Amino acid sequence: METKISEIADGIYRLSTYVLDIAPPAGFTFNQFLVLGDEPLMFHTGLRKMFALNREAVSRIIPPERLRWIAYGHFEADECGAMNEWLAVAPNAQAAHGQTGCMVSLNDFADRMPRVLADGETIDLGGKRVRFIDTPHTPHGWDAGVLYEETTGTLMCGDLFTQLGDGPALTSGDVVGPAIAGEDLFNYSGLNPGMGVTIRRLAALAPRTLALMHGPSFAGDGAAALNALADDYDRRLRASFGDAGLGAAQAVAA
Ligand SMILES: [Fe+2]
Ligand SMILES: [Fe+2]
Repeated sequence: METKISEIADGIYRLSTYVLDIAPPAGFTFNQFLVLGDEPLMFHTGLRKMFALNREAVSRIIPPERLRWIAYGHFEADECGAMNEWLAVAPNAQAAHGQTGCMVSLNDFADRMPRVLADGETIDLGGKRVRFIDTPHTPHGWDAGVLYEETTGTLMCGDLFTQLGDGPALTSGDVVGPAIAGEDLFNYSGLNPGMGVTIRRLAALAPRTLALMHGPSFAGDGAAALNALADDYDRRLRASFGDAGLGAAQAVAA
């Protein structure tokens, strides 16, 4: 396996490792994002067993010990499995995650105490600025959240838009159709009535780049892609609850 590096927005690097054995023959990518600044941030630690690969990839961009922040979408091995390995190599690094995630997992799991981020709270990285946004249970995980880099308009989406294959690092093509196919195959989302509301809230940011954890990054109309994804989750929920049931459940979730 190798880890490829691409700059997908100004000062934001995608570290991509392709695994053929997951969902062959298409295979599957695991992508980490390194956001440069006075206080560099990594979004997703990568799997613990891929730490050596990711560490070597980061070292081609900055000395890994310079990392200041380690953030991720939700508590799972590919999102944060290598957390303590990064904390060990970067003595000034601190994990940063939402209130739920710190309370439920990170306060115990991380070798140093994390920074707790409220919904909408920002971290000034010096040259870049990231905002944590709670997306509970979307696409899965009670502690789920995404990170929005304000200066480049880049939304680090975590598992949203998960797709198969080893596409280009950056595309302006369709990312919604492949995400629908990915959902059909994996059933990875915890379908809940708040999904559409939560994803449309992200669309309101009008991101210019969507950084996918499992798939290419997307440059273009991020709002349109997010709204289309929200529509598809509404369609799935409507199939389960019916129109009236979905409407009532969304009213509660909003
Ligand atoms: Fe996940
Ligand atoms: Fe993931």
